Amino acid sequence: MDFEAEIEKLKTELNAVILAHYYQESEIQDVADFVGDSLALAQQAEKTKADVIVFCGVHFMAETAKILNPGKLVLLPDLDAGCSLSDRCPPGPFKAFKDKHPDHFVVTYVNSSAAVKALSDVIVTSSNAVKIVARIPADKKILFAPDQHLGRYVMKQTGRDMVLWPGACMVHEIFSEKRLVQLKVEHPDADVIAHPECEAPVLAHADFIGSTKQLLEYTQTSPKQKFIVVTEAGIIHQMQQKSPGKTFVPAPPDNGCACNECPHMRLNTMEKLYRCMKNKTPRLELSPPLREAAYAPLKRMLEWS
Ligand code: 13P
Ligand code: SF4
Repeated sequence: MDFEAEIEKLKTELNAVILAHYYQESEIQDVADFVGDSLALAQQAEKTKADVIVFCGVHFMAETAKILNPGKLVLLPDLDAGCSLSDRCPPGPFKAFKDKHPDHFVVTYVNSSAAVKALSDVIVTSSNAVKIVARIPADKKILFAPDQHLGRYVMKQTGRDMVLWPGACMVHEIFSEKRLVQLKVEHPDADVIAHPECEAPVLAHADFIGSTKQLLEYTQTSPKQKFIVVTEAGIIHQMQQKSPGKTFVPAPPDNGCACNECPHMRLNTMEKLYRCMKNKTPRLELSPPLREAAYAPLKRMLEWS
């Protein structure tokens, strides 16, 4: 079957918009109406006029789109597309952690469930975390969850002390510092660009640190011709399209593979995308009270961004 042609037909039939994250496989990125990072995708979801949002990303991203658009049908090609950060920060233990720090302002990374968002004061993404934390009054104590590495990076950038939930991304924490150093020796003319979910020793080698969108923009505006890319390798598709003459070298993980892919993101395929649009399932559902509780800190993020 020509999935691309069938998906295009279904888009018109359903008045649907396909939103895709940069870590999706190239074919999905190419059929999407909009490809972006977590913040840009949430902003697109907030303003879309389409009746149906088809979200090619992981569960928390589709859930964010549903929180922002309770009246719209939100489809996700594979409901099992989770995220290690979100999955390892369940609402019960998070509530207990929060209760131990009662006077803290709770800043939660968007890579979290609606139930954890509902327990938070403000949500951040990797694009706006530094800006948002810097806005919090200096006399407020801060609790940051669930990514300890992003949290440490934000602490360094803002000079703010924060209590950190000990979570990590299973993809970004396995980049090998040793293999990165070897790559730098092989490519002395390359800039190292890294996502802030990486561990501090890896980030210490970076010439530029940013969200996926910020990394992409950096490769477009930098006069450099070569980049060692320390994030999920799916982003390289957009980098090559935007700067066809430049060279992109994926940084390797410490598991013997040549490049690093998110197993959750890669659960989505063109066939599953076609089937979810054809059958209008799986769909994201949220109870109205949970949706309302998770909306307040998310709305604050969009206002502060
Ligand atoms: P971005 O918001 O930078 O796209 O990050 C999302 C993510 O899941 C990174 O692992
Ligand atoms: Fe979650 Fe990491 Fe995958 Fe991003 S790359 S979706 S943080 S597991």
